[in-house]
Order: sequence, then C-alpha cells, then structure tokens
Amino acid sequence: MESLLSSSSCATLFKPKLISPIAPKFNPKSFNFKSKYPLTNKPAARFAPLKVANSPAETTVSDNAIPAQMKAWVYDDYGDVSVLRFDGSVAVPDIKEDQVLVKVSAAALNPVDFKRRFGKFKATDSPLPTVPGYDVAGTVVKVGSQANSLKEGDEVYGDVNEKALEGPKQYGSLAEYVAVEEKLLALKPKILDFAQAAALPLAIETANEGLERAGFGPGKSILVLGGAGGVGSLVIQLAKNVFGASRVAATSSTGKLELLKSLGADLAIDYTKENFEDLPEKFDVVYDAVGQCEKAVKAVKEGGVVVVLTGAVTPPGFRFVVTSDGSALTKLNPFLESGKVKPVIDPKGPFPFSQVVEAFSFLETGRATGKVVVYPIP
Ligand SMILES: NC(=O)c1ccc[n+]([C@@H]2O[C@H](COP(=O)([O-])OP(=O)(O)OC[C@H]3O[C@@H](n4cnc5c(N)ncnc54)[C@H](OP(=O)(O)O)[C@@H]3O)[C@@H](O)[C@H]2O)c1
Repeated sequence: MESLLSSSSCATLFKPKLISPIAPKFNPKSFNFKSKYPLTNKPAARFAPLKVANSPAETTVSDNAIPAQMKAWVYDDYGDVSVLRFDGSVAVPDIKEDQVLVKVSAAALNPVDFKRRFGKFKATDSPLPTVPGYDVAGTVVKVGSQANSLKEGDEVYGDVNEKALEGPKQYGSLAEYVAVEEKLLALKPKILDFAQAAALPLAIETANEGLERAGFGPGKSILVLGGAGGVGSLVIQLAKNVFGASRVAATSSTGKLELLKSLGADLAIDYTKENFEDLPEKFDVVYDAVGQCEKAVKAVKEGGVVVVLTGAVTPPGFRFVVTSDGSALTKLNPFLESGKVKPVIDPKGPFPFSQVVEAFSFLETGRATGKVVVYPIP
C-alpha cells in the first residue's frame, strides 16, 4: 500500500505524457455552432460561442494560441453515467476580470460530481448542459485584468467551485480549459506532478476545513470514518502531521488497513469485523466521511464533536459544505513539498481522458482508495 503514496511510485502507475500548455490554433470559421447545439426547449445554447477578439477585461499575451473550441465531457440531462458524452467542439470559456484560464493537465473526480449529475443539487445548480469537474491541475494561459498574483505559465491546482453546491460552474475541469477565480488556485507544489496535484484540492480542503471547524489541535485524538477514501486519507495525514494529533484511529475494510497505518493511523479498525462504536476508547473528534453520524456520536468523548460530511446529523455532530480556497492550499503547500502529506491516487487510475465514464463508474462503487484521477487531458 505504501506504493500508492510515494511520489516516485506514482510515476510507475502511468507514463506521464508531456502536454504543451498551448493548444493548436483553432479556425472559428470551420465551426458551425447551431448544428452542434440546435435550439430546443432545453437550454442548449448556453454553450455560447466565445468571441474571438480580446475582451477589455483580459490581459493576454498568447491569446492567439488559445483555440475557440475544446474537447470536454458534457451532460445535457441529469442521470447515471450514460448521460455523459464526449464533445470535441465545446466553446472555450471566457474569463472574468478576477479569473484566469487554465489549460487543464489533470482533473480528479469527487462524489459531488456524480451526486450533482444525478440532479441531487438541481435547485442550486448552474443550468444544463454541464461540463463536470471540480478539481484541476494545469497551467495558466490567460489572466484577467483584476487577477494580480498569477501569471501565464504558472502551474496551478485548485477546486474551481468556491461553493460546492451553490451555482457550481457550468464549465468544469473535465475539459481542456477551465476559467477559474484566481483566489481558488494555488501554485502547484513542485514535488508533485499534475496528476498528483489534481488528487488534492477538494478533498484536502474538506479535510482541513473540517478539522479547523472542529477546533482540532495538538494533543487531541481523532477517529476517521472512511479513512481510505479521498477525504479520509487526507484527514488522517493532516490530523497527524499538520494539526498535531496525539492519536489517530481510522476505519476501512480489511484490505486497506495497512494503507491507514502508512498514512499515520495509530489504530486501524476493520469495519467488517469490529464495530468502532463498541470500542472502549473514545475520541475528542470523530470525522465521519461515510455517513454514520448516529454511530459516530457513541465514539466521541464528552465535550467532543463529530464532523459530518454526508447523511443525517445527530448532536454533537455538525455538518458543513466545503468552501474552495486557494489560500488553504498555499498554507498546506509546505507539508506537501516536504512529503509529510501525500496525495493518494487509486491504482486503477489515472484514467485517460477517453475513460471518464469508466472513472465515474469506478468512483460510484464507493470503493475507491484515495482519489480517482483523470490524466492526461486531453
Ligand atoms: N460536505 C462536504 O463538503 C463534502 C466534501 C467532500 C466529500 N463529501 C462527502 O463525503 C463522502 C466521502 O467523500 P470521499 O471523496 O472521501 O469519497 P470516496 O473517496 O468515494 O470514499 C470511498 C471510500 O469510502 C470507504 N468506505 C465506504 N464505506 C465505508 C464504511 N462503512 N466504513 C469505512 N469506510 C468506508 C471505502 O473503503 P472500503 O472499500 O474499505 O469500504 C472507500 O475507500 C461522500 O459522501 C462525499 O460526497 C462531502
């Protein structure tokens, strides 16, 4: 299991492919937008063709090299993986003043991607059709006039949606380009490749925000439910190596117990054999990434809290929805650069861009170890 973690071993899982940050020039005259997205009673025309001329809001150096169209994964209706379709001619998104355009090298999937695709957050979603994808790692190729800290050529990573459930972007990261508010991004740690960096943003920000909200700190103990998942694998590492936990316990099925220990768990609990809530040991914080709050409250000490990511909440549990924040990534970058915190990429991946349906199908089994990464893109 250790091999899942090391930065060099990640390279053995796939052959990194060098991708030019600048795509070949596109000829807008050859693109018939109306035939691609005919006007129907669905809001199909929302993929409005982008103007080719520079907007005054943008400071561009190599705008000519950015095509008008890109390859992307799209869905036009809510549903299971069958609604996903590959589209080779989606308009490259325009950027607002506070945004940068990122040439995407790698993306990662999160459960919110498929919950959103199923229509669970319909009421607060952006309009269909949707290019899904929250997590991105790539290279800045265009900078908005009010974006002051990033520049063209910067290698960045982040979660492109500030509020996960409130108006997530119509154009997400499962595409060649994504427009992102500068404040949601951070410089990619140099030690990490794009696939590794893409494995982090939403999950590590969730892990970090939950621990902060719980008031977690040095000398405290924690039990992580779902320790082998995208979020749980990072909660274990942050609790131990960033927040100074005195003791970390975590749950998984039998085959993942060694991984939990390699991430820093002092106690790895096999949920197929033991009920964590029946153990005599109690914890200052239980971090529930599974949806077991009712049981979790039985494992918390008097005065402690349960951090709940999903499912029903029982006091002293509290639930929150992650806010994307580039400064949280910047805060954590030294721990990533030093290797104290490492991305965990499921060994079934990274999935090439052509296999996004397979990547989603696997994530939706609920059995992923660490993150399901899509690389290379395109
Ligand atoms: N509120 C928020 O802001 C927020 C943010 C991020 C995620 N979430 C939610 O949090 C949940 C976890 O997200 P994630 O990205 O970590 O998901 P994930 O990576 O898909 O989680 C998969 C992992 O869950 C483990 N698991 C499943 N059932 C388990 C059980 N009964 N006990 C222990 N481990 C179990 C699996 O291990 P085994 O194969 O060993 O069972 C697998 O490794 C999702 O529901 C997601 O939507 C919420």
